Amino acid sequence: MAKERLDKVLSKLGCGSRKEVGAHIRAGKAAVNGQIVREPSFHVTPLVDKLAFGGKALPWRMGRYFMLNKPAGLVCARVDNLHPTVLSLFPEQERRGLILIGRLDKDTEGLLLVTDDGGFCHALMSPSRHVEKVYRAMVSGRLDLNAPARFRDGLPLADGTVCKPAALQIVGPSGEGLTEIQVTLREGKHHQVKRMVAAVGGHVERLKRISIGPLPLDPALTPGAFRALTEEEVEELRRASGAGQTAVG
Ligand code: URA
Repeated sequence: MAKERLDKVLSKLGCGSRKEVGAHIRAGKAAVNGQIVREPSFHVTPLVDKLAFGGKALPWRMGRYFMLNKPAGLVCARVDNLHPTVLSLFPEQERRGLILIGRLDKDTEGLLLVTDDGGFCHALMSPSRHVEKVYRAMVSGRLDLNAPARFRDGLPLADGTVCKPAALQIVGPSGEGLTEIQVTLREGKHHQVKRMVAAVGGHVERLKRISIGPLPLDPALTPGAFRALTEEEVEELRRASGAGQTAVG
């Protein structure tokens, strides 16, 4: 296996940004095969050299992180007897161990994160971490004039469940007699956008997730296309979710 720079590897393993990790290495916090290494450009062999960071052994875990532009019609499940799943978009050899970070409804499109890093997934999904998810929706019906304030104050749904404060912006009328809105949530209840919109008099006709925390959907991804996240994107998501020290993989 090709050698890689120590600072790059430690950053991928969740020890911080390249810059932060570089400072930690110079300060003597990193060891390779039991020897302190103070040079960020020192090269290590993945899976072979034994790493430690801050005095603790750091297991090699080669994480995979993807963003997918989910098309309508596919379900977010590992297996489904009736419908194709989003994992069917990945080549078979890539699918093993992949988990979906949250779910979108079958008819919802847009940004879905997929990884094999359970800790990363847990941190991004945890309601206590407050990672924002932003949705654009086309809605029919007549929205209550006070809908933005009701979203902000914590909207009760039809079944009595009370939502955490959320943001609703009216983007404007669309050509088809629908209204375009933007909704920002910090939690992920089942069908939440649809149920919140219904609670203020509307009906969601089309729904798309456009960002998660600091990460927008890459406009170059057509529906059904995916790409690996860059190291910087993974790092930003870790920072946003507080998953900073989770080892990768
Ligand atoms: N809210 C919904 O109603 N559906 C989704 O797919 C995501 C959020």
